[in-house]
Amino acid sequence: MSSLHAPYPATRFRRLRQSAPLRRLVSEARLSPDDLIWPVFVQEGKDEATDIPSMPGVQRLTIDRVVTAARDAAALGIPVICLFPYTDPSLKTEACEEAWNPDNLSNRATRAIKDAVPDIAVMTDVALDPYNANGHDGIVRDGEVINDESVEALVRMALAQAAAGADILGPSDMMDGRIGAMRRALEAEGHQRTTILSYAAKFASGFYGPFRDAVGASGALKGDKKTYQMDPANSDEAMRLVRRDLSEGADMVMVKPGMPYLDICRRVKDELGAPTFAYQVSGEYAMLSAAAQNGWLARETVMMESLLCFRRAGCDGVLTYFAPEAARILNS
Ligand code: PBG
Repeated sequence: MSSLHAPYPATRFRRLRQSAPLRRLVSEARLSPDDLIWPVFVQEGKDEATDIPSMPGVQRLTIDRVVTAARDAAALGIPVICLFPYTDPSLKTEACEEAWNPDNLSNRATRAIKDAVPDIAVMTDVALDPYNANGHDGIVRDGEVINDESVEALVRMALAQAAAGADILGPSDMMDGRIGAMRRALEAEGHQRTTILSYAAKFASGFYGPFRDAVGASGALKGDKKTYQMDPANSDEAMRLVRRDLSEGADMVMVKPGMPYLDICRRVKDELGAPTFAYQVSGEYAMLSAAAQNGWLARETVMMESLLCFRRAGCDGVLTYFAPEAARILNS
């Protein structure tokens, strides 16, 4: 047999990779600005922005600047902006009352965006850490995070956020029973249309470090969050939590962090079929940005690749600090 008739493969995967049009034709996952939720940090003051050293390129913004940012995001086709307030240390107490103050920074920002930018949905964070003298997501008594009392505080907080006009509440606290308690209170108080995106599978992660710097919680935190956030070793437990939160009334669910937990995203989508989101958290942003700043990674390439991979893993969308940058590329 001559080498011309050698048993070359009949199936050549490289045929469909040979040109951009063919690659486009057969590509499975797609990313669009519609899939992005943009987390932003809010601070007091007027017409100011503060750099966050551990998140190069991300700034805390005063409310007027957040409104402008929301307008820009809406113009880019981003459907949701998610607010995280930097609370003045003088407002942090052990009872966390500032969390349900109708005029706290987060609620004022929500109202300002809802008034000025009707085309973007506002998501808020339901957890006590920005208001807690102990830095924890729940009420601390004798060194312990008390579940049921924390849920009562979180319900008050959720109602104040709904009254301010939040479209999506994001309970990120990991207390047991909070979704059901919030849903019942929202229904009873006339907030039937307020949706809940539950941080259902939130792991006790080292990747939240830069976020805690951004909201000024790093200094306050006593100990760690391992008695309420999940063990990174667990996957079956994540499924039970997601199932539980959906049964208590969550409309959408989240896996957090994102990149090291894509297996959880895939399981959630396959087993529950609910609207599933991943949070590409501050540490993931910091990691990619720092490497890019050093010239070790190509920023745009790794940013777009990482976001597309969430879609491939089954996510309907991603919370990402890259949202406007990615949307600009997707629109170009
Ligand atoms: C707090 C909260 C955290 C994040 C979102 N909400 C930090 C934490 O749980 O300590 C992290 C987000 C990020 O790292 O980007 N409830």
